[in-house]
Amino acid sequence: MLQKLKQRWGVNTLNLLLIICTFAIGGSLCGKAGVKLLELTALDKNIWWWILYVVLVTLLWPLFVLTISIPLGQFVFFKKYLLKIWRRINGKQKAIVNVAIFASGAGSNAQKIIDYFKNISTVNIALIVCNNPKAGVLAIAKKESIPCILIEKNQFENGHRYLPQLKEHKISFIALAGFLWKIPVAIINIYPHKIVNIHPALLPKYGGKGMYGNYVHQAIIDNKETESGITIHYVDEWYDHGNTILQFSCPVKENESAESLAKKIHALEHQHYPATIATLLQKLN
Ligand code: GRF
Repeated sequence: MLQKLKQRWGVNTLNLLLIICTFAIGGSLCGKAGVKLLELTALDKNIWWWILYVVLVTLLWPLFVLTISIPLGQFVFFKKYLLKIWRRINGKQKAIVNVAIFASGAGSNAQKIIDYFKNISTVNIALIVCNNPKAGVLAIAKKESIPCILIEKNQFENGHRYLPQLKEHKISFIALAGFLWKIPVAIINIYPHKIVNIHPALLPKYGGKGMYGNYVHQAIIDNKETESGITIHYVDEWYDHGNTILQFSCPVKENESAESLAKKIHALEHQHYPATIATLLQKLN
């Protein structure tokens, strides 16, 4: 049961305990506050008292739970949790697209995507998939209370192994953001034209296996290119090969280093990747 909750909410044991504490403390304080408020009225403890009590507690509960969640460090989780309940009550649950981000590095693009969609109620960044236990993106997932799975190479290559998790989180779109493994055909077939990648060069140049990060930038500098850029493309069963969606370029100066070029490329990625994903998601609806 606890294991299931951990998976569903994407939290570790400590956070799960803190969440349970928040529910317990918030709930009991809220119950007590309800009684105290009703004591201020002259009502007898009859059926109306109980009805009023339930109404009061229902209204006060979010406030108490949110307040308690702050010192216990669970505010982000409860904000999301309550928003979800609110949407359900409002009947605004319709047409929410659940997106998974596959990332294995620092996760700066993942962070930008998460930030971009924070205030867009129809899109939920529902899952982070990562293959590197040391990746910075894991801390981002934790900070943002986004469920995260750490995948294993052989199992991933098998293709079907992680499909149940994608299904469990109702994922309908996948954005790769610094994910270095080839996506298995089994996953591509389930998500036709619904998996996109960002590559730090103007494909088809400087793409393919081994062409990532500073290897790409250094190759561009070594070849004395005067222009580089980013490519946002659909993912197929080959590295950096699917149809191009958009490209944006930037100049490569004479004294450019791989690091300075990486900075320019990252700025372009942060500017364009989330917005491009948003446009693609609109077309999905
Ligand atoms: C980006 O440059 C992206 O183009 C490439 O991997 C890098 C990921 O960077 N696919 P970050 O982890 O998002 O900072």
